[in-house]
Amino acid sequence: MFCDLIDFNDLPLAEWEALLGLGFDICDSFAAYCDCLKGRILASLFYEPSTRTNLSFQAAMQRLGGGVIGFSGTSATSVAKGETLKDTVKIVSNYADVIVMRHPNEGAAYAASLYSKLPVINAGDGGHLHPTQTMVDLFTISKLKGKKMTGLAVGICGDLLYGRTAHSLLRAFSMYTGNTFYLISTPALQTPEYFLSELRKHNKIIAADTIEECIGELDIIYMTRIQRERFASDEDYKKQTGIYILDKNKLKKAKDDLAILHPLPKNDEIAAEIDDDPRAKYFFQAELGLYIRMALLVKILEGPKPPPKTKISGNTEKKCENISCVTKTEKGIPDIAKTSGGKSVCAYCETLFSLC
Ligand code: NCD
Repeated sequence: MFCDLIDFNDLPLAEWEALLGLGFDICDSFAAYCDCLKGRILASLFYEPSTRTNLSFQAAMQRLGGGVIGFSGTSATSVAKGETLKDTVKIVSNYADVIVMRHPNEGAAYAASLYSKLPVINAGDGGHLHPTQTMVDLFTISKLKGKKMTGLAVGICGDLLYGRTAHSLLRAFSMYTGNTFYLISTPALQTPEYFLSELRKHNKIIAADTIEECIGELDIIYMTRIQRERFASDEDYKKQTGIYILDKNKLKKAKDDLAILHPLPKNDEIAAEIDDDPRAKYFFQAELGLYIRMALLVKILEGPKPPPKTKISGNTEKKCENISCVTKTEKGIPDIAKTSGGKSVCAYCETLFSLC
């Protein structure tokens, strides 16, 4: 089985399908799993706010018979005294069996995985990725639309630049074929190409300016919040709000079996009147998060302990230029390059290294 979960696409399709199958089984035979992880401990390290991801991971571990330690916000931890991510992770590695981590900087989960003795699950790294939300999303889509995941018209709307849930979901769909994606965003908040390059090989991508122009075609609309906390200024954020609002009027042209999804929390992008529409599936989606995270914990903790990780040293003279990259905000994290699509990029946050 895999060790860390940093990017959903690190998981081969066969392993994801096994995990998905386990998610279905846990849903159907919940009681059979209640002692599965007895005596095991999850460390929940949330450097950024969370309701669903943090609480569903904690509930998942406890439903499986395990225990939970950790923090939600760093004010009561040694991080407030200047402790580095590297040191915190090394320490926590002694107290638990798996680390679930959310952090405001891109690449933080990957950095943590380099120093942790334990498997690290990325529960969101800045505006980069959110692989376990993608598991929730694909599980929900499988439940609602069947497991084949082909021939679907999927609208993804809102903040496609900073929205890590949209990034992970789009990238995950590159494992499937024959779907059409309508990317609905302002020009300022479009999806970075590196989340789309694999997807477009076997699926169609259409850029849309409005919800109205494509709503009638869609099987799924995935709404997202404008990520206020990622903008350089509140002025820039305000220019991007209130543009896409899904309301009853826009749904008039939608299919009867449209599934309205949202990773939540929602702000004004879904009118409150939609909550009672039978096509609104976002609360169901959040409910399913428990089962698929139970499945993930079972899979990641089954089998023998992973071997110790090899010591890390930087392999590049180049420096990442993304100011939100973990290499910029954390001491002692070496720049590392990897090749992606024939280009040299930062191994943590995937920002292209400039030629120097
Ligand atoms: C999302 C996140 O944190 O990226 N929420 C979640 O985990 N369900 C979406 C968001 O904050 O907009």
